[in-house]
Amino acid sequence: MKMSNLLIGLVAAGFAMTAAAQQPIVIKFSHVVAANTPKGKGSEYFKKLAEERTKGRVKVEVYPNSQLYKDKEEMEALQLGAVHLLAPSLAKFGPLGVPQFEVFDLPYMFDSYAELHKVTQGPIGAQLLARLEPKGVKGLAFWDNGFKIMSANKPLRKPDDFKGLKMRIQSSKVLDAQMRAMGANPQVMAFSEVYHALQTGVVDGTENPPSNLYTQKMHEVQKYATLSDHGYLGYAVITNKKFWDGLPVDIRTTLEGAMRDATKYANDIARAENENALAEVRKSGKTEIIVLTPQEKAAWKKALVRVHRDHEGRIGRDVIQSIYKEIGFDPAKL
Ligand code: LMR
Repeated sequence: MKMSNLLIGLVAAGFAMTAAAQQPIVIKFSHVVAANTPKGKGSEYFKKLAEERTKGRVKVEVYPNSQLYKDKEEMEALQLGAVHLLAPSLAKFGPLGVPQFEVFDLPYMFDSYAELHKVTQGPIGAQLLARLEPKGVKGLAFWDNGFKIMSANKPLRKPDDFKGLKMRIQSSKVLDAQMRAMGANPQVMAFSEVYHALQTGVVDGTENPPSNLYTQKMHEVQKYATLSDHGYLGYAVITNKKFWDGLPVDIRTTLEGAMRDATKYANDIARAENENALAEVRKSGKTEIIVLTPQEKAAWKKALVRVHRDHEGRIGRDVIQSIYKEIGFDPAKL
């Protein structure tokens, strides 16, 4: 080889190596809800902080609305490393083999975001996230959505009103029991399919915080929604453990800081996002909002309290009791 050719080759290889060294680390963040929700905004805020603070060494691609994967597939894709960040609802960890997360689905356990944060942002939350590691999954944070409302095409004021209704639920066994305790027939279904299933009558009703009901336009196909506040919906932000542990230490530390700040942001906006969504639903005039009287709410509590006792085996008595203690909850007082 001529000296000049060798030189050109070396220079070209040098450029290629520099280009490779400058390729950003791409982090795909997939989720199933709309961009204008607490989770959608939280993921965009994380992207902004992560890209700014790593000065472009990391590129975060956010895929909302089940664009990449539906509920079940996204968990599998994360374990395979095809996607790097998810924030599934806490009601979706049973199929992964971590049913302890269903503790958050127990009816009427949490009264406020403040009570939730005692658990999710404290040692119990950290212990729960640690349960994911044997599955190859690392838990990074808990993000709030809010308190659920029940919707259908008939008014839902008392447990009897649920009799025979097909109610869409997430994959949680606690939610299955909750719907059965009300006399309904629960049907597990991916979030992306709910609007169509409600529209075509495949299911009669559903539950979700107002932000999900509104941003998926479910209020256009549900005539009534009851402000029952019977349960909480929140998320665990998770990553593939091997991927995360394999990141350069300085990048990982920066991303952990970005996640801490994005968590604060997501949790700070969750309540207002839900209040605004409820106001929009009211304004649309398409869904009548039902407020339960104290007596009606007491009847819901009476019907649902046994779900706590019945799920000690699945969730673990120790997990349930630790949360009761942390927030001063007594199911006997429901
Ligand atoms: C659902 O009903 O599936 C929702 O929890 C979706 C979500 O991630 O908020």
